[in-house]
Amino acid sequence: MLIDTDTGSDDAVALVMALRHPDVSVAAITVVAGNVPLEQAVQNALYTVELCGEAVPVYSGAARPLTRTLETAQFVHGDDGMGDIGLPLSGRVPAEGYAVDRMIEVIRSNYGEITLVTLGPLTNVAQAILKDPTIVAKISRCVIMGGTGSGPGNVTPASEFNLWVDPEAAKIVFESGLPITLVGWDISCRRAVFDKETAAGIRRIGTELAHFTIDIQGKVDDFARRVTKLEGFDLPDPIAMAVAIDPEMAETRHLHVEVVTHDGVVRGQSVIDWLGLGGGEPNVHVVTDASREKFLAMLHASLAD
Ligand code: RIB
Ligand code: CA
Repeated sequence: MLIDTDTGSDDAVALVMALRHPDVSVAAITVVAGNVPLEQAVQNALYTVELCGEAVPVYSGAARPLTRTLETAQFVHGDDGMGDIGLPLSGRVPAEGYAVDRMIEVIRSNYGEITLVTLGPLTNVAQAILKDPTIVAKISRCVIMGGTGSGPGNVTPASEFNLWVDPEAAKIVFESGLPITLVGWDISCRRAVFDKETAAGIRRIGTELAHFTIDIQGKVDDFARRVTKLEGFDLPDPIAMAVAIDPEMAETRHLHVEVVTHDGVVRGQSVIDWLGLGGGEPNVHVVTDASREKFLAMLHASLAD
């Protein structure tokens, strides 16, 4: 598995799930600016890998979208992206090399073996495709957390953050021919919301990783209750990671999806052709539902000793 992340408080839990799963071998983690500026996202990924006791290389990637200025989600995840609870999220050193080059190398040297899981804006992935289009045929599966699916946006009424930050990159990726499974924010809202009781149940697992998982969600929990009107924080990246690890837990439909790159309220909208009206060839396996039970079981197992 190759994981591309903008390491915020939900990304970190997705990293823990992958790093701790017995059937997953994480070849590398590539970092992109999104939830927080690049350097902070790199530090957050390095901290999380260290907390899991793993030695997976973390590479620093794109500091801004392909053409636009960076807009972060620090208003959601906190200034440090990890809930601003005072974790020591600095001073660690990423592996040598630019993430886009390392991504290409990992894909080339594991021909047909790599599941690419993207948890942030698609800037690194788009740059890799532009630099070496042959990687598209060498990737086994690409699971993307992004878009709104059949639900509302979380940045504009029409757009989800990961696609909204860098719509030009997302358009390149969605038109590339990559075998994409798309886990929209609708799935997170329906199957990955944590009310106080569920959150307390996870924290009672009692391990350092269980405490970490819950304690870094305070800012998102406040945002969810106040702005997105959920019963508590949601975990979009972890449920996308669960779908990547266990595809059987999700239902999908093969549909045409395009990303809007105009400005304004539709910027970054994932337009899903549910009825096949547009005539475009299906290019994405859109997740239409996923098992909360299987997600929670996988999350619990990753946090236990
Ligand atoms: O819209 C949710 C997505 O945006 C998640 O990946 C979250 O981490 C942020 O990157
Ligand atoms: Ca993310």
